[in-house]
Amino acid sequence: MKRQILVTSALPYANGAIHLGHLMEVIQTDIWVRFQKMRGHDCIYVCADDAHGTAIMISANDQGITPEQLITRTNQQHQADFADFLIAFDNYYTTHSEENRQFSEGIFQQLEANGHIKRRTITQLFDPEKQLFLADRYIRGTCPKCGAPDQYGDNCEVCGSTYSPSELIDPRSAISGAIPIEKASEHFFFDLPVFSNMLKAWIRSGTLQQQVANKVSEWLDDELQQWDISRDAPYFGFEIPDAPGKFFYVWVDAPIGYMASFQHYCQRKGIDFDSYWHPKSTAELYHFIGKDIVNFHTLFWPAVLSSAGYRTPSAVFVHGFLTVDGTKMSKSRGTFINARTYLDHLDPEYLRYYLAAKLSSGVDDLDLNLDDFVQRVNSDLVGKLVNIASRCSGFINKGFDGRLASNPDNLGLLAGMQQIKPSVAQHYEDRDYGKAIRLIMAAADQANQYINDRQPWVIAKADKQSSELQAICSTGINAFRLLLCYLKPVLPTLAEKAEQFLNIEPLTWSSSDSILTDHTINKFSPLITRVEGANVEAMINTTRQEYTQQQEASKAESAATDANGFEAEIAFDDFIKVDLRVARIVNANQVEGADKLLQLTLDLGKDSNGESITRNVFSGIKSVYAPEQLIGKLTVVVANLKPRKMKFGVSEGMVLAAGPGGQDIWLLEPHAGAAPGMRIT
Ligand code: 2FM
Ligand code: ZN
Repeated sequence: MKRQILVTSALPYANGAIHLGHLMEVIQTDIWVRFQKMRGHDCIYVCADDAHGTAIMISANDQGITPEQLITRTNQQHQADFADFLIAFDNYYTTHSEENRQFSEGIFQQLEANGHIKRRTITQLFDPEKQLFLADRYIRGTCPKCGAPDQYGDNCEVCGSTYSPSELIDPRSAISGAIPIEKASEHFFFDLPVFSNMLKAWIRSGTLQQQVANKVSEWLDDELQQWDISRDAPYFGFEIPDAPGKFFYVWVDAPIGYMASFQHYCQRKGIDFDSYWHPKSTAELYHFIGKDIVNFHTLFWPAVLSSAGYRTPSAVFVHGFLTVDGTKMSKSRGTFINARTYLDHLDPEYLRYYLAAKLSSGVDDLDLNLDDFVQRVNSDLVGKLVNIASRCSGFINKGFDGRLASNPDNLGLLAGMQQIKPSVAQHYEDRDYGKAIRLIMAAADQANQYINDRQPWVIAKADKQSSELQAICSTGINAFRLLLCYLKPVLPTLAEKAEQFLNIEPLTWSSSDSILTDHTINKFSPLITRVEGANVEAMINTTRQEYTQQQEASKAESAATDANGFEAEIAFDDFIKVDLRVARIVNANQVEGADKLLQLTLDLGKDSNGESITRNVFSGIKSVYAPEQLIGKLTVVVANLKPRKMKFGVSEGMVLAAGPGGQDIWLLEPHAGAAPGMRIT
């Protein structure tokens, strides 16, 4: 029977790059979705950026742009990263959408009508300078238990104790550095405790993995608390209906964003939204999430849905964290790897395969061991899988014009490979991809063993057109096709190339019921290349360098400034060391892979021999100037800055600009009568 399935991955925040942690989740989900689609089910995969909240507001402010600009830019980057990792979303949207506003308001009104919204005045810490309430993570101070300085508002990273922000010694706003004051305001609360019994029944209905169900059941045994769903202005989000200055907390409209993204898809495709979300819907709904956000998806979310008159999820699939070389991803070690940095060095299918080979249905963390990664991908994909095709295809192409035999030599081998299909399918269905991969690779071993035993190269030496040779190699090619069929959810590009080589229609799950006979294949060209350890190393080095540059930049930014933001005083002797010159921009180019930089060629006048003095300078003004707007302009440059090696090349100076950044950066432009090389005094 054809199933109707709606699948989601957690929505990434719209203020940061996609990294390997996000990728593990979307790769896990994408494999599952591709598998369901291959089996012929209606499976729809939606996601979106999680665009609201204080963090996004602050991040945009720091960059001198509006939150809308930030989330638009990030959305484009996220979509490009996911597409390049072959994540086939049916719809990727944003929570900052009209659909989401309507769903959020509608759901809130329904909860209120049901008496599930309570109002109460609470007191919180407030930043008097920035005029905003401070969430615990935006308060820093000295730990009241052990005296460690610069700890978060709710827990100490040194002694591990937890406390309330008002207990912190010498508390400061992490945003402005101001001393927070206490301030009261009215908040809206969702009456979660009313749903205790409903949730107890829901978690017993097969919706959760055992370990997760146990954890949630512990929470349900304790007394549930009402959930604070409002935040005061200024806040980037949706204003609560009839409550000016009050906004939905980001975690209210984030999961509703699943519905909004789906609705956006339904409108485009003419699908009936209600048939998936009606309380009596027979469609299946699955959320793939990490173990850190279980409470939002297994307490608040099903309770909100049920109060608002929607169906609850069929299951929530929880995974563990990704570690790299046995430890938490770390920026300084270079293992906090962004999707784009990976893609600059390595093939996405290597990672898809490696993660699949290690993923299980449990919530344990998964370790990306970089040596093992290289070894595993080379041994399995190059050494075992593609090797089968490359060992057999040449003989078929040369001796038989690409024609496969009508009777392959070893039908038993192929039948054996077909027999594993139900188990492989069950493992995919259960998200036990590691088990599926082990079965598939054991079959690949058998196919290679068969080729080793039959030694087609020996037969070919005697007779290139022997029917035995054709039958053996046709067996090999068929084995390769069956393996590819099973691996297609994990390796979609490799499968597509293989379909092209095999000269066949796209493989579906039932393709493996038949074998190819009397069929002409195309010429074989290498389907995948080996992973080189050097590329992995280069990726780690790049990540480390990016981190060092960020550190230097933020150190430079936070270097002692006074209360008005002026840098520390310097002596006149220091000042006159700076050689400021007029320069003409004679050329300007985009820098591939750089978000902010343009590459400028500057003319600084002539040297004593009358030769032009030119400089190559990288300048962070791309957000404002297109290269062609700059050519011919005069500007001011620090001409004696020590050349600096940057990721994209050596920068031999610094052009001067004014403004807070973002869209507001103005190059200093001397009077048009000035000449390149002129000293500024
Ligand atoms: O933890 C996070 O990264 C959140 N942005 C996940 C949101 S998932 C959903 F509920 F929207
Ligand atoms: Zn402490």
